[in-house]
Amino acid sequence: MSDAGYTEGALVATENLIKWFPITGGFFKRTKGFVHAVDGVNLQIPKEVITSLVGESGCGKSTLGRLVLGLLTPDRGKILFEGQNIVGLKGEEFRIFRRKAQIVFQDPESSLNPRLTVGATLKEALRVGGKEATDKVVGELLVSVGLEYEHQYRYPRALSGGQKQRVGIARALAVNPKFIVLDEPVSSLDVSVRAQIVNLLLDLQKKYKLTYLFISHDLSLVKYISDYVAVMYLGVIVEKAPSRKFFTEPLHPYSQALLSSAPRLQREAVERIILKGDVPSSVNIPKGCRFHTRCPKVMDKCRTVEPQAVVKDGEHEVYCHLYT
Ligand SMILES: Nc1ncnc2c1ncn2[C@@H]1O[C@H](COP(=O)(O)OP(=O)(O)OP(=O)(O)O)[C@@H](O)[C@H]1O
Ligand code: SF4
Ligand SMILES: [Mg+2]
Repeated sequence: MSDAGYTEGALVATENLIKWFPITGGFFKRTKGFVHAVDGVNLQIPKEVITSLVGESGCGKSTLGRLVLGLLTPDRGKILFEGQNIVGLKGEEFRIFRRKAQIVFQDPESSLNPRLTVGATLKEALRVGGKEATDKVVGELLVSVGLEYEHQYRYPRALSGGQKQRVGIARALAVNPKFIVLDEPVSSLDVSVRAQIVNLLLDLQKKYKLTYLFISHDLSLVKYISDYVAVMYLGVIVEKAPSRKFFTEPLHPYSQALLSSAPRLQREAVERIILKGDVPSSVNIPKGCRFHTRCPKVMDKCRTVEPQAVVKDGEHEVYCHLYT
C-alpha cells in the first residue's frame, strides 16, 4: 500500500488529491491566498469494511469526503472508484457513479427538505437512482432502518432527531450504494440515541457489505466501529493503519498525542502529550513535515524535508522521518 494507485482490496483510492479554496478580499475581490484543505492525499479505502477518518477541526476531513463522492471537483489528482477515475465524469456516467456512492450528513435537520414528506424525499432518491418509487418500496426502506411503514406520510418536523437521521440513512440506501461517506453522522444527536444509530449503521454495513468512510471526532466510537483508521493533519494523511494496530501502537507523533488526550482508550496508563502551539493556518502550511511546529520529536530534517509514506507490517502506513 505504499504507493498511490489502486490496489485490489480498495474500493476507492485517491492519488495526490488536491483541493484548495481561494480566499478573496478587498474591493476587487482579488485572490489573496488559498486554504490548502486537501493537499496531496493518497488514501486507499478498503472495500466492504469501515475506515474512519479522524483529525482536528478544519484539517480537511469533510472536503476529502465530498471530493471522493464527486460533490467537489479537485484541482489536481485522481479518484479511482473500482479502478475508474471519476474526476470529470459527466451526465449519465456521473449519475451511475453516484448511485454507488452516497453520503449521510451530520445534521439531519438541515439535510431534509422540510416541505417534503418523508415519502416524497425517499421517492425522489429512488427515482434518481432509477428505482421503482412506490409506497410499498418506501415503506420497506423505512422498516429496514428501524422506522415504520407509516412514517412516509409524515413531515420531518414530526420526527425526532434520531428518526430524521434514520430517514437520512434510508435516503442513502435507496439506490443500493456500495460506498457511503458518513460525515459525523451521530454527533448532532442526543447521546441517548447515538448508540442505536451507530448499531443500525453497523448492521447495515454487514448486511449489505457496504464500504464506509466514517468521519468522526469521537475516538472511542472510532475504536468501537473501525476496521481501519486514517489520521489527517493540515490537509494530508499522516497515518493509516488497521484499527487494532492504530489503537495499540500509533506511530505518528500526532496520532500519539491525539490518543494520549483520550486516556480511556489506552490499555496502559500513558503520559498525556500536550502539543505546543496552535494548529498552523492551512493558508501558510509549514515547510518540510507540516507537523514540525508542534511535534515533540522534531529533528532538523523535519523542518525542510517532507516525509514520504513508510509501510510497516504490510498495512501500517506512516508519514514521519522517525521511521525512514
Ligand atoms: N467551500 C469552502 N470555501 C472556502 N473554504 C472552505 C470551504 N470548505 C471548507 N473550507 C476550509 O477548508 C478547511 C477544511 O475544511 P473541512 O470542512 O474539510 O474540515 P473538517 O476537517 O471537516 O473540519 P470539522 O471537523 O470542523 O468538520 C477549513 O479551513 C475550512 O474553513
Ligand atoms: S517528521 Fe519529524 S516533525 Fe514530523 S512527525 Fe515525524 S518527527 Fe515529528
Ligand atoms: Mg467536517
